[in-house]
Amino acid sequence: MRSEQIRASFLEFFQGRDHRLVKSSSLIPDDPTLLVTNAGMVQFKPYFLGSEKPEFSRATTCQKCVRTTDIEKVGHTARHLTFFEMLGNFSFGDYYKQEAIPWGWEFLTVEMGLDGERMYCSVFEDDDEAYDIWRDIVGIPGERLVRLGAEDNFWDMGTTGPCGPCSEILYDQGEEFGCGEPGCKPGCDCDRYLELWNLVFMQYHRDEHGELHPLPSKNIDTGLGLERLASVLQGVSNNFETDTMAAVLHATSDLCGVKYGSGEESDISLKIVADHARAVTFLVGDGVLPSNEDRGYILRRLVRRAVRHGRLLGITDIFLPRMVGVVTEIMGEAYPELKQNNAFIDSIVRSEEERFSQTLRTGLLYLEEAVNELKSGGGKAIPGDVVFHLHDTLGFPLELTRELARERGLDLEEERFAELMEEQRERARAARVEEGYTSRVHEIYAEILDNYGESRFSGYESTSDRATVVSLVKDERAVALAVEGEEVEIFLDQTPFYGEMGGQVGDTGRISSSTAEAEVIETFHPAKGLTSHRCRITRGEIRTSDNVDASVDTERRNAIRRNHTATHIVHWALRQVLGDHAKQAGSLVDPRRLRFDFTHFQPLTKEELARVEELSNRKVIEDLPVRAYVTTYEYATSINAVALFGEKYEDYVRVVEVDEISRELCGGTHVGRTGEIGLLVIAGEVGIGANMRRVEAFTGMEAYRYFHSRREMLEEIAASLKAEVSKLPERVDKVLHRVRELESELRKKGREETASLIDGGIRWNESEAPGGIKILTAAVDNLTAQDLRELAERTLARYAAGAVGIATVNDGKANMVVALSRELVDAGLDAVELIRKAGRLLGGGGGGRPDMAVGGGSETSHVDDALAVMAEEVMAVLKEGHA
Ligand code: ALA
Repeated sequence: MRSEQIRASFLEFFQGRDHRLVKSSSLIPDDPTLLVTNAGMVQFKPYFLGSEKPEFSRATTCQKCVRTTDIEKVGHTARHLTFFEMLGNFSFGDYYKQEAIPWGWEFLTVEMGLDGERMYCSVFEDDDEAYDIWRDIVGIPGERLVRLGAEDNFWDMGTTGPCGPCSEILYDQGEEFGCGEPGCKPGCDCDRYLELWNLVFMQYHRDEHGELHPLPSKNIDTGLGLERLASVLQGVSNNFETDTMAAVLHATSDLCGVKYGSGEESDISLKIVADHARAVTFLVGDGVLPSNEDRGYILRRLVRRAVRHGRLLGITDIFLPRMVGVVTEIMGEAYPELKQNNAFIDSIVRSEEERFSQTLRTGLLYLEEAVNELKSGGGKAIPGDVVFHLHDTLGFPLELTRELARERGLDLEEERFAELMEEQRERARAARVEEGYTSRVHEIYAEILDNYGESRFSGYESTSDRATVVSLVKDERAVALAVEGEEVEIFLDQTPFYGEMGGQVGDTGRISSSTAEAEVIETFHPAKGLTSHRCRITRGEIRTSDNVDASVDTERRNAIRRNHTATHIVHWALRQVLGDHAKQAGSLVDPRRLRFDFTHFQPLTKEELARVEELSNRKVIEDLPVRAYVTTYEYATSINAVALFGEKYEDYVRVVEVDEISRELCGGTHVGRTGEIGLLVIAGEVGIGANMRRVEAFTGMEAYRYFHSRREMLEEIAASLKAEVSKLPERVDKVLHRVRELESELRKKGREETASLIDGGIRWNESEAPGGIKILTAAVDNLTAQDLRELAERTLARYAAGAVGIATVNDGKANMVVALSRELVDAGLDAVELIRKAGRLLGGGGGGRPDMAVGGGSETSHVDDALAVMAEEVMAVLKEGHA
């Protein structure tokens, strides 16, 4: 029976018993207590704990799993693997032992046709209930029923979490598989009694103090190793000879030209490569990247071991990417993510292998020389200096040095090595001081980094997390505790809080422990890789090493996410409308709005802005998927991901894609689908420098508020104009029309009044200059500047005067106009000069043209003097001219 048939029968068997078929979850678990998914139950943990309610009470899965605790045994035994598929059936407070045990037996013996006589069952030592079910209901004779201790028959996922007694179904492979020791029986560590299926009766929760508490309900969690079952059904002696694994193994053998079965050592290497190639392919396929920490390190170690065993088999070229291809071909049907991410997995594995190959070449040469020298001198331990040089300068993995030493029957000078490592840390500290990190502030952050490493960011996947306080900083000093009312910077081993970066503001929220509560006011990076939470303690006291719940203000974070994804969409829309020269020059994303700066040579027209807004909203409404993944910088460039000009990028970069329309390098937090943005409104566009423009926009609730406040405004206007909103344009047109009518009526009236003033309403002071030139001045109350000018002009014409001066007091201010005839201007008189002189008397000044000037001031009582001065001046000039 082929593996895929076994998988399908299992899932069908339990679907036929009302189990919901659930997809394998990612190898990156949604669980901070775990680095990689290592069992089928991981995705269901909240259901067992009762912290979440499932929609179904029975489930069945085929789960991809990685376990590396026994990595050294892989290839040396028939059954150890780092990657495997676990078939499972689960009950969340539904059925229990009565059903789970007989079903397990039925599936193996009836569906799979295994010989019941060769099967053994084990139960936890005091679990009489399970024992009785096996004996009385299933009918297993006492000699094939064993009671074992907690070591074998109490299952837990780790130091804390759901757990319970279990019962295992074992298959006797026969004496030839055994160790031959007299005490060999079920539970022995050899390959004879193969543990096929583990049925866990999940009924406890173990807390941090190791105490067991009953779970809200009794549950079933089972795990049946697909590869193990396949090896029994396919009649082969080990996991590596089953159909799916053999294909990978033979591909490796073809690659190196070493036949499987031609030697013990080479068989081990073939098996290791085959196993690790699967694990590596699946891990990278789920987004794990090589690094020196946590799950990234699990992956790096697997790659390194695979590469090294590839070299031992004589493969000198880069070969792991080809193994990735083989694994994808064989398993891509069942796990489509492998096919989808093929190019990505290839590029990550390739660059990691290239890097490591170089390290390996240099390191091995160096080590061989050192070993030869050592042996010729009769030494037994590789000097600490050599180990240190390998590790520190050449980047050669320490565990590989250990392994190679062991193979050669040598030890390492561990103590000397530790000493050198300490000196190295000391030097690094000193170097930082020299580099100018002399301020205490920097030093303190550097120290935190030194002691605890970078803060792990878990905020892409969730907005709350359990964490440990690694350090507290108050007034630039490390402190052991902070109490209510104090402000303090809290540093955690891992955090869901996004620290301000790349234009996106930092998160706010709460950090709480069993004894304290703190408000996170801001989150930022005081040093690269280090996240500081500036907090105010609102209750109790917080200490280093405290376990805390860190939870981000999700509403605020969601608003930020909307604005951030909107920024990418607006960037795209701008380029659609304006052309590819419209490139991002900067951005600011906060919960209220987004600001986007870009290159463009002129203001956007109203139509362009409207098109940008419309295109953006179309993409919002289409509810496009937004994806983020990490990849190599080279790969990102090869697929044309938009990078910010002038920005320096690391080897690995994060790419954010909005469906097909946008692909940018970005570390920010984003929505899962564009529909979450809701609505996008561009609220303004301005120039901010040469060829640089800025748009501001709102999304989500802020966009709604923007429109809402405008609607309210419209309604108010409509109410005061007594019209419906839809009729407002008409109504406003009408009102404006009426205003214009009234204005012109008013002007007409004004002109009539002015005319009547001229016709006799004004008492003019008249004087005559030589040549019969008339000078007229008058003071009239309450005229506007416009009236003054008109009056002066008309008087000049009507009375054939040479000079007219009119002043008025209006609203507490004096205004005056001087008008001269052409003749007088030609004679050298200047209205501007005249008004300046008069204006001075009025406590101000004036200006205008030579024939007409206006002025004024606040000295209203000097109006008559000002007029007199003007008349005298004209008279004087004309007299002089005449003489
Ligand atoms: N969770 C159980 C195991 O992994 C079934 O063995």
